[in-house]
Amino acid sequence: MAMKEDEAEENGHKMAGELTPVPLITPYKMGKFQLFHRVVLAPLTRLRSFNCIPQPHATLYYSQRTTKGGLLISEATVISETAQGYPHTPGIWTKKQVEAWKPIVEAVHAKGGIFFCQIWHVGRVSNTDFQPNGQAPISSTDKPLKPRGGSSDIDVKFRPRRLETDEIPQIVNDFRMAARNAVEAGFDGVEIHGAHGYLLDQFLKDQVNDRTDKYGGTLENRCRFPLEVVDAVVDEIGADKVGIRLSPFANYSDAGDSNPEALGLYMVESLNKYGIQYCHMVEPRMKTMGEKGETTQSLLPMRKAFNGTFIVAGGYDREDGNKAIASHYADLVAYGRIFLANPDLPRRFELNAPLNKYNRGTFYIHDPVLGYTDYPFLESTT
Ligand SMILES: Cc1cc2nc3c(=O)[nH]c(=O)nc-3n(C[C@H](O)[C@H](O)[C@H](O)COP(=O)(O)O)c2cc1C
Repeated sequence: MAMKEDEAEENGHKMAGELTPVPLITPYKMGKFQLFHRVVLAPLTRLRSFNCIPQPHATLYYSQRTTKGGLLISEATVISETAQGYPHTPGIWTKKQVEAWKPIVEAVHAKGGIFFCQIWHVGRVSNTDFQPNGQAPISSTDKPLKPRGGSSDIDVKFRPRRLETDEIPQIVNDFRMAARNAVEAGFDGVEIHGAHGYLLDQFLKDQVNDRTDKYGGTLENRCRFPLEVVDAVVDEIGADKVGIRLSPFANYSDAGDSNPEALGLYMVESLNKYGIQYCHMVEPRMKTMGEKGETTQSLLPMRKAFNGTFIVAGGYDREDGNKAIASHYADLVAYGRIFLANPDLPRRFELNAPLNKYNRGTFYIHDPVLGYTDYPFLESTT
C-alpha cells in the first residue's frame, strides 16, 4: 500500500514517481514580484567588500545563491560615512559604490532572481576609527555599549554622541539617498535595517533610547525616526520597493525592550499606512545573537496585524520552514547560515537532500573565496 504523502515527508524521502508537496517550494506573488518558492536569502554581512566597495567576487557569491523567482536580500550596506561599524562592509553612498554594485545585481537578474538591498546605519555599534575625522559614532543616546570581555573601562573611542533633534532629518535623508542609489544600481528594492541593535533599533528600544525630545519616551516617539525613514524611502522609490527588518524581541548590542510585543505591533500597524512590500521579522527564539533559545513568544500577532508580505527568520530548517508556510504563519522564510553554506538551498529543500555544514570560522574573514564561494553544490543527478 502506498504511503501517505505526509508520512513520506516525515520519513524524509520522496516516493518514486510521486511528488511530495514541499510548502517552501510553492509559488508566491509578492506584489508585482512573482516568486517561484519561499526560500529567501537572509542578509549576511561577509566583510569582503574592500574599503566599502563591492567586489567582483560578490558577483559569483550572489549568483550562486540565485534561483529563478527567488528573493535575495543583500548583506547590510552602509548608507553614509557615519554609518559604518565593521571593516570591508559595502557602501551605497558614492557613485563608485553604485557602479560596483551594478554587475552584481545584473548577475542576479540574469538568473531570474529578485534582489533587495539592505540599507544600514550602525549608530553606536562603531568607534572613532570608522568615523570621518575620528569623530564619535552617533546614536539616540550617549550611553556606550557595555564593554566586552569583562572589562569595566569604556574606551573613549566607543562613546557615542547623542544626535540633536534637528540633526535627525539629515540621517533620514541619508537613508533616502541610499534607497535612490540602490534603485540606480539596479536593485528591485531596499530592506531598511531596523533590527539587531543598530541605529534605528537604538531609537526603537526603551533600554537604549533615553531621549526627552519627540524621538524618545513614549512608544510613538521611539518609533518616530524609523517611521520617518520609511516615509522618506517610500516617497523616494515607491512602497512596492520597500521592506523593513525588525527584531523587537532581540537584545543584541544591549538593545532590548521591556515590551517587545507592543513595539512589534505598533510598528506593523504603522507600517500598514505606508503599504510597504514586506516586513521581515526575526524570531523571538533568536533573542541572543547566534543562539536559538526556547520561548513561548511568537510573531503571530504581528503576522496577523501586518497587511503586506510577512517574512520570518531565525533558526529555521526545512521542517519548521515548511510548517511556517503550510500553517500561514509566514509568507516567506529567510535562511541565513544554512543558505550561506548551501548555495543551492532551495533545490536541496525540494529534494530533501542533505545539507553542507556551515563553518563559523570563515563567516567574517576577508578571503574572496574561502568560506564564501567554495561551498559545494549538490552533484547533478542527470
Ligand atoms: C555571518 C552572518 C552575517 C549576518 N549579517 C547580517 C546582516 O548583514 N544583516 C542582518 O539583518 N542580519 C544579519 N545576520 C543575521 C541573519 O540574517 C539571520 O537573521 C540569522 O543568521 C538567523 O538566521 P539563521 O538561523 O537562518 O542563520 C547575519 C548572520 C550571520 C551568521
